[in-house]
Amino acid sequence: MARVAIVTGGTRGIGKAICESLRDSGVTVVANYGGNDQAAQNFTAETGIKAYKWDVGDHEAAAQGCAKVAEEVGDIDIVVNNAGITRDGVLHKMSYDDWHEVMRINLGGCFNMAKACFPGMRERKWGRIVNIGSINGQAGQYGQVNYAAAKSGIHGFTKALAQEGARAGVTVNAIAPGYIDTDMVAAVPEPVLEKIVAKIPVGRLGQAGEIARAVDFLCSEEAGFVTGSTMSVNGGQHMY
Ligand code: CAA
Repeated sequence: MARVAIVTGGTRGIGKAICESLRDSGVTVVANYGGNDQAAQNFTAETGIKAYKWDVGDHEAAAQGCAKVAEEVGDIDIVVNNAGITRDGVLHKMSYDDWHEVMRINLGGCFNMAKACFPGMRERKWGRIVNIGSINGQAGQYGQVNYAAAKSGIHGFTKALAQEGARAGVTVNAIAPGYIDTDMVAAVPEPVLEKIVAKIPVGRLGQAGEIARAVDFLCSEEAGFVTGSTMSVNGGQHMY
């Protein structure tokens, strides 16, 4: 029987590419999304992949959402924690709300989804959790103390949970994307983005599909010996 995967923030950008790639590998995929109903409808119409709405940063909502997916689609074998937001600004101008929302969704979302799905994976002795970190969690980024802290937290969360899942056949890994051609990166002011791209050795932004293929590998049957790792997919921008 096909494995069942849930991809958070799965209806747009990198998440959408991950959904399509997993589906093409024979996985039964569902997408979660947080707010954009129109994008979700377009996504389902285009891909045939079901989309479920809840806020991953809301502990109860994540538990209920995952229970619904398990009931309607099947036990969840694979979780890709991709949902994330930016609220960029230098610290002296950043509000507490901008700090807290990014921590709540980007890092809290990983905890909430793992809490909902990891126990079942342990019981069934097979699971894959892939957390989408960021180059900016590895290297830091001017104007992103909130985002860099949350993404850096994801890398620590990954290594800790990997140790807990190892004996039970559950791998937990992270991908650290660099600057990928998505709406999130398009929101970076153009002169700032030009300077960033100039520092990418391959000389261009990444494509969402290039992240998706890496996720696809980490979710495969063959990747059972890869756990607690971070795969950097960043065009050589930060070799870490
Ligand atoms: N290093 C050093 N100084 C910098 C800098 C940097 N990287 N970026 C900006 N500055 C300086 C500017 O030169 C400017 O200096 P002066 O006043 O002396 O000219 C000063 O900081 C203020 O810059 P801004 O005018 O841009 O200030 P702002 O308050 O309007 O905006 C900002 C600040 C919100 C941080 C804006 O610069 C910005 O959006 N930067 C991009 C941040 C970024 O890379 N975000 C990544 C989003 S994509 C993502 O997160 C996905 C992923 O995982 C990779």
